[in-house]
Amino acid sequence: MKIGLLHSLIRKDEKYLIDEFNAVKGVELVMLDDREVSFNIGRDSYDFNVVVERSINHSRALHGLKLFDTAGIKTVNTYQVATVCGDKLLTSCALAEHNVPQPEVRVAFTEESALRTIEEMGYPVVLKPAVGSWGRLLSKINDKDSAEAILEHKTVLGSYHHSIFYIQKYVEKTRVENGERLPGRDIRSFVVGDKCIAAIYRTSPHWITNTARGGKATNCIVTDELNDISVRAAKAVGGGIVAIDVFESEHGLMVNEVNYTMEYKNSIATTGVNIPQKMVEYILQVAEGRI
Ligand SMILES: Nc1ncnc2c1ncn2[C@@H]1O[C@H](COP(=O)(O)OP(=O)(O)OP(=O)(O)O)[C@@H](O)[C@H]1O
Ligand SMILES: [Mg+2]
Repeated sequence: MKIGLLHSLIRKDEKYLIDEFNAVKGVELVMLDDREVSFNIGRDSYDFNVVVERSINHSRALHGLKLFDTAGIKTVNTYQVATVCGDKLLTSCALAEHNVPQPEVRVAFTEESALRTIEEMGYPVVLKPAVGSWGRLLSKINDKDSAEAILEHKTVLGSYHHSIFYIQKYVEKTRVENGERLPGRDIRSFVVGDKCIAAIYRTSPHWITNTARGGKATNCIVTDELNDISVRAAKAVGGGIVAIDVFESEHGLMVNEVNYTMEYKNSIATTGVNIPQKMVEYILQVAEGRI
């Protein structure tokens, strides 16, 4: 069994995955550094049973997947999944098409129509670049003054990615339990194939709960409800190995987004689940043509 691993810098996530592959007899792991690979479109010929994508950079991940796909190689995740998950607008469309609950989201193309839309939705809203991650350039907008300012900044200073206004209703995360006001949290669930294998709560005094921005991770029990919405969200974007951001709202669970190169290094000890081992099991099934 020959497995290619498309990667950038080897982070802890990749290290754990490599260790799990090396623990399996009969697996030859070939490292494909995205800073060194090059492709010869239409002439490439590989003998990988599968290529696993672990690039840090979305553009390299996406195009690498397409190029291996064109060379007839199976990949985890697929190019289609990376395309949908890498773009919040496409993700929202996929979730809507599959009736997966998500926060109200509207899209506008100009500063004026975006402002009108925000006023219609009511405050607060969250403005996000359609392509982006690690919680960067997210704006929570609480009133018309800041809406005008941020829309103008995006219009004047923003790159191509900011020319589409992706506007989400803000979902209140602070909970009241036994009369006590608790800090906000959301859920990150991990889906491998057709199962949610683990989940964490991310708790933070800041409205952006990403662990990369200081959110604290604790174990979250995978209830049937969480498994169901997570697996449905994964299927909606095309399946595979994905991490789902889930909000707990007064209307039940809602999916915020789906991540296709999932980061899990801080979640193994927290959940007690050997996430990379489950990933390897799934990838080998794909490699063997069992999925
Ligand atoms: N509509 C919203 N209501 C409340 N909180 C939100 C909303 N959108 C985003 N957040 C908070 O901000 C965090 C980052 O948002 P989001 O996941 O959409 O951005 P991102 O840049 O793609 O991050 P990443 O890919 O690293 O998860 C969420 O995990 C959540 O805590
Ligand atoms: Mg997120």
